[in-house]
Amino acid sequence: MANFFPRWTNILPLKIVVCLGVMASGVVVAFTYYATPKALRVGYMPSQPIPYDHALHVEQLGMDCRYCHSFVEHSGHANVPTASVCWNCHQHVAKGSPKLEALRGAMGVDVDHQPLEGEAGKGYPIEWVRVHRAPDYVYFNHSAHVNRGISCKSCHGDVHKMKVVYHAESHSMGFCLDCHRNPEQHLRPLEEVYNLDYDVAAYLEANEIRNAEGDLVTTQEEFGTMLKEQWGIKPKESCTTCHR
Ligand code: HEC
Ligand code: HEC
Ligand code: HEC
Ligand code: HEC
Ligand code: HEC
Repeated sequence: MANFFPRWTNILPLKIVVCLGVMASGVVVAFTYYATPKALRVGYMPSQPIPYDHALHVEQLGMDCRYCHSFVEHSGHANVPTASVCWNCHQHVAKGSPKLEALRGAMGVDVDHQPLEGEAGKGYPIEWVRVHRAPDYVYFNHSAHVNRGISCKSCHGDVHKMKVVYHAESHSMGFCLDCHRNPEQHLRPLEEVYNLDYDVAAYLEANEIRNAEGDLVTTQEEFGTMLKEQWGIKPKESCTTCHR
């Protein structure tokens, strides 16, 4: 973890102050767009204390993201579930599995689900390794996105197909701004935000969505533009939106 967020990132707030000054004098700070070290993060895939598999739980068992990431639609921060959420099922399912040893430890029980003695019986929080983390000088908010028709998929990729979660998108400033400038490329109906298998063409065909002229809508571009107007979506681009 230590060298994943290298020391030079500490001086970035200073760079922002300098940039704001440059902006004030009317020069476009194109470099912030291109200078972001994308390669640092895309593909980052730390190993986790339990080999938890999204493909199995979401794609095969059909679980909703919000069963575990329950804060995501109510708060700025998405949460990772506590051990007791897993235990709802795993006190019954795959009992004794060696892959669940750290889960049993977290619940304070042995392989036969008998309480461990002493301190160990109290359990401990599972130490999941964070995959995505915005720098301290960036303000981000989950609920502001998922309640406005932006899916997890736009920012985290095909998590429902990942056996091990990895950093799929760059989360660079250019990445944020590309969408803030063209949200119609990403907007989808609110009930489809957590459906990572959503297919816009299939949705439009099944629902026979029509434009103001009465013609069938067939492209993301046109559908996204309709949703944007209907919902009054206008993502901000000013520096203070994301740097407070
Ligand atoms: C059964 C519980 C469960 C469900 C359902 C679930 N997740 Fe997760 N998710 C976890 C756990 C546990 C972690 C932390 C371990 C890891 O990264 O694999 C995690 C990690 C993540 C991360 C990485 C977090 C970080 O550290 O940056 C993302 C992104 C994510 N989940 C998205 C999703 C999406 C999108 C869905 C729905 C399609 C979903 N999850 C469904 C349990 C769940
Ligand atoms: C809704 C019920 C449910 C929840 C909640 C749940 N799981 Fe599972 N999990 C399952 C089922 C069903 C299987 C498949 C069991 C099998 O193949 O025998 C499974 C399999 C697993 C396995 C593989 C076990 C093995 O021996 O192959 C691991 C590891 C696992 N889950 C971890 C977790 C973790 C960690 C959480 C919490 C973040 C969690 N699960 C939450 C139902 C659940
Ligand atoms: C607009 C982009 C975007 C969307 C949409 C989005 N995320 Fe995230 N997600 C991020 C960013 C950026 C971070 C890092 C946030 C931080 O460090 O404060 C993150 C972090 C996370 C984390 C790690 C815990 C945390 O609070 O940092 C989880 C879990 C997560 N996202 C799950 C989800 C799920 C589930 C969805 C869909 C319901 C989703 N995200 C939708 C951008 C997004
Ligand atoms: C895929 C599209 C998309 C991406 C990627 C995206 N955003 Fe957004 N963002 C939106 C939309 C849509 C809104 C809501 C605009 C509205 O409500 O009119 C929004 C709103 C916001 C807001 C305003 C929240 C508030 O409290 O009013 C912030 C802050 C923000 N985004 C930060 C970020 C950051 C930081 C990133 C990159 C890590 C990012 N966004 C990436 C589409 C996106
Ligand atoms: C939609 C959100 C958003 C807006 C608006 C935004 N930024 Fe950023 N900015 C980010 C994110 C996210 C990063 C972190 C990139 C990373 O971690 O790689 C960042 C990083 C930076 C950096 C560090 C250098 C770099 O490229 O990593 C500077 C400097 C900066 N921003 C200046 C600005 C200025 C000046 C403005 C106004 C013109 C602005 N930002 C507007 C999201 C935003």
